[in-house]
Amino acid sequence: MTSSPSPVSFGEEAYRPQIHYTAAETWINDPNGLVYADGLYHLFFQNNPYGTNHANMSWGHAVSTDLVHWNDRPVAILCDDEEQIFSGSIVVDEGNTSGFGAPGSSPLVAIYTSAYAEDSAHHGIQAQSLAFSLDGGETWTKHEGNPVLDRGSRDFRDPKVFRYSGPDGSYWVMVAVEAVERKAVLYRSDDLRNWTHLSDFEATTKVGLIWECPDLFPLAVDGDPENVKWVLIINLHREDGEGGSAGVYFLGDFDGTTFASVGVGASADDGGAPAAEYGWLDFGRDYYATVSFNSAPDDRRILVGWMNNWDYARSLPTSPWRGSMALPREATLRTRAGRVVLEQRVVPGLEASGLPRSLGLLDVPEGVRALPLECREIPCLIEATFDAGSASEFGLVLLQPGEGQPGEGRSGEGRSAEEGARLCYDVERGELALDRRFSGNTELHPLFSSIERAPVALIGDRLRLEIYLDAGSIEVFAQGGQVTFAEQVFPDPSSTGVSVYAVGGTAQLVALTVTPLKPAPVVRERESAHAV
Ligand code: FRU
Repeated sequence: MTSSPSPVSFGEEAYRPQIHYTAAETWINDPNGLVYADGLYHLFFQNNPYGTNHANMSWGHAVSTDLVHWNDRPVAILCDDEEQIFSGSIVVDEGNTSGFGAPGSSPLVAIYTSAYAEDSAHHGIQAQSLAFSLDGGETWTKHEGNPVLDRGSRDFRDPKVFRYSGPDGSYWVMVAVEAVERKAVLYRSDDLRNWTHLSDFEATTKVGLIWECPDLFPLAVDGDPENVKWVLIINLHREDGEGGSAGVYFLGDFDGTTFASVGVGASADDGGAPAAEYGWLDFGRDYYATVSFNSAPDDRRILVGWMNNWDYARSLPTSPWRGSMALPREATLRTRAGRVVLEQRVVPGLEASGLPRSLGLLDVPEGVRALPLECREIPCLIEATFDAGSASEFGLVLLQPGEGQPGEGRSGEGRSAEEGARLCYDVERGELALDRRFSGNTELHPLFSSIERAPVALIGDRLRLEIYLDAGSIEVFAQGGQVTFAEQVFPDPSSTGVSVYAVGGTAQLVALTVTPLKPAPVVRERESAHAV
């Protein structure tokens, strides 16, 4: 009953993502210096240019016109004996406030963390430094007066700088972290070289073991420019055993000096009482160091996360690269059931590579039922709508041993009938879970096997899921992006089957569509040298 003729093939590089950015043959972690300039989206990132482990931190570089197709560029800012180049941001310095460019020009200025090495007089300290580019981001010069902001701290890092305009004029604002103190620190500057402390932000209830990679930006609630809220993103390590790397967001007001949190999910109906102090950015295990682009067109707020988790990042079974970015997402603030929440959708631009295959209305009685449709083409987009019906639990099982592999698929060594990545909706709890405990290779690290849960309300008894399946990952957007999960999975390449299931009654699969997506392989530096 399978309508796709060719079996899935990952080629020689098992798990090489087809629609996610990866370096050709090196290690990457955090996205850095996300900036849109002169028609190009620049993705810089933490990169070890010499290997596949976290070392020699430098800034790698790729560019894109559409956030789908990426071209590798040469390493932008290289570590040396004195410092590693830790995370940070880039601004388009309009009007040349820094003086790094010619009068009236707009140089790109990177603000990064110098993590000083043994050979440095600042050994053990983390401080903020500058580098600039006068050729659109291709080549970078470190500022001679580095560092420009030094608190004498060992854990002061990850500066995000943006242009702020308010009643007192326009200036640069930096939000960075005192990682161990779990504190966001804010500074201002007129020239990017001299910084004055503005304020600190701490959560009322301590969250995470350390804070990293903050971001602060305004968003119009429901697109209404008269109703702007500020979003403070904090990436953090959760308490041991709680899932490792994750991200939260605070909502509030920023007056140019202080960020005042008002809580997440404030409701007009109950006198504005917030539901929580912060919200989770994503409920999966692999969405970290997420920050947004500066200067994106039309005030869009586009986020990129590292699709990984420090718990096991060094143990990924991929070769010769390690680490990938999550799909770029557009963030919006929406009022849902009277509450303001952050939503995320994949930035449009991925194209279908063939006709969508659909199933119509189908009863899902108690038990597991294999669907007459497989996900043989990777990458693909799966769109599913369920009606809870009388079931107490229902869901979807992906990456199951496919029909094409009867014997060895279900009973072969190391494979079991339970195999698959499960999306489980618990009606009573109002909870969606992503269970990757049987999703293939989970042995890569003791902390990899996981089941993660998120509160999700049905809308008119229905659950709507959009799922992007690529080699090595699954990204789930529930109820139009109200709740998301980004996770890595390392299934057997032949596990392409899809099942639905219900418990305690009959649910309905209202519709299910699988759309094969066009691979967008990264154009590598070697190949692009002649083309660009
Ligand atoms: C977050 C992080 C940052 C740091 C960078 C080093 O993943 O630990 O705090 O700047 O990675 O690579």
